[in-house]
Amino acid sequence: MKNYNIEKFDHCELYVSNAKQASHFYQNALGFQPIAYKGLETGSRDKVSYVMKQNQVRFVLSSPLRSGTDIGKHIDKHGDGVKDISFTVDNAENAWKETTSKGAISVKEPHVIEDEKGEAVLSTIKTYGDTTHTFVERTNYKGPFLPGYEVARFNKIADPTGIVHIDHVVGNQPEGEMNSVCNFYEKVFGWHRFWSVDDKDVSTKYSALKSIVMANDNEKIKMPINEPAKGLKKSQIQEFIEFYDGPGIQHIAMSTKNIIETVKKLKANGVEFLPTPKSYYDDLKKRIKGLDEDIDTLSELGILMDSDDNGYMLQIFTRPIQDRPTLFYEIIQRKGSQSFGKGNFKALFESIERDQLKRGNL
Ligand code: FE2
Repeated sequence: MKNYNIEKFDHCELYVSNAKQASHFYQNALGFQPIAYKGLETGSRDKVSYVMKQNQVRFVLSSPLRSGTDIGKHIDKHGDGVKDISFTVDNAENAWKETTSKGAISVKEPHVIEDEKGEAVLSTIKTYGDTTHTFVERTNYKGPFLPGYEVARFNKIADPTGIVHIDHVVGNQPEGEMNSVCNFYEKVFGWHRFWSVDDKDVSTKYSALKSIVMANDNEKIKMPINEPAKGLKKSQIQEFIEFYDGPGIQHIAMSTKNIIETVKKLKANGVEFLPTPKSYYDDLKKRIKGLDEDIDTLSELGILMDSDDNGYMLQIFTRPIQDRPTLFYEIIQRKGSQSFGKGNFKALFESIERDQLKRGNL
């Protein structure tokens, strides 16, 4: 029996070079509302953070306020990217004690933070690369996010795009390191293998990947772990590893209850998605049993579909959201299926490869 419980994804913190401008993208393109802020005005001298929220998804966008900081070094090495995936827990001290006693490396010991609105306990451990997991325990905290943050100032209410919660968070590993990372989640957290694909399932003429999905006890948290497999040319996973300069978060999948409406809104806001060739839709009705969708609309928007014994799912991927070909987002609507789109990897890879070729990285 564990003496702590991981409940769900709490938030993701991104280190970005200009948090003020990034917050505009999250608000005006993705439809997130700024809810909390800390920076010079709140007494934070080194670091500024904007907390952006839509339904259950929270992103913290952080930038350094001066030279020579750890955040600045992280951005120099990796570019803009995800630093921390944090989990809501019932006991941040026990979570830290148990995971570090099972071999996790501590980044920050359990510590209480408080302000006039209450208190919270945080602790942080390392996972792959420079990525970390923070355990967040809020006991009756009444503020907008966590102690130390103030309610965000804003001129405009965000127009939501229908994003509901984080479905999964994917980490890319260098070749040959997928299994040791999965073993870490098994040993340190006691998580289990939920789903997997290997290079026999997922390959194009040029590139291939292996992936294992790790899930926590209640399966609200799913973290697929990828590694490149041998192909004729450079895998998109390898391209990520080179431009991120090591392992890190490749994409975050966010759910919607109406993918057509969500994608229409995001496109109208200027979000770029990977295109899907029209030929993908030719045999779709035959391939997906019980498909209750307007294929012409899906084809127009480039939405992909896949099914398993329990139903089907619809998904689409953005282009990278910064200049380095690293982090991107996925929008997903599940209609029964708990799969991770094995049937779509080939179409997705071919679409990414067309972009890789343009970038001179294939
Ligand atoms: Fe995904």
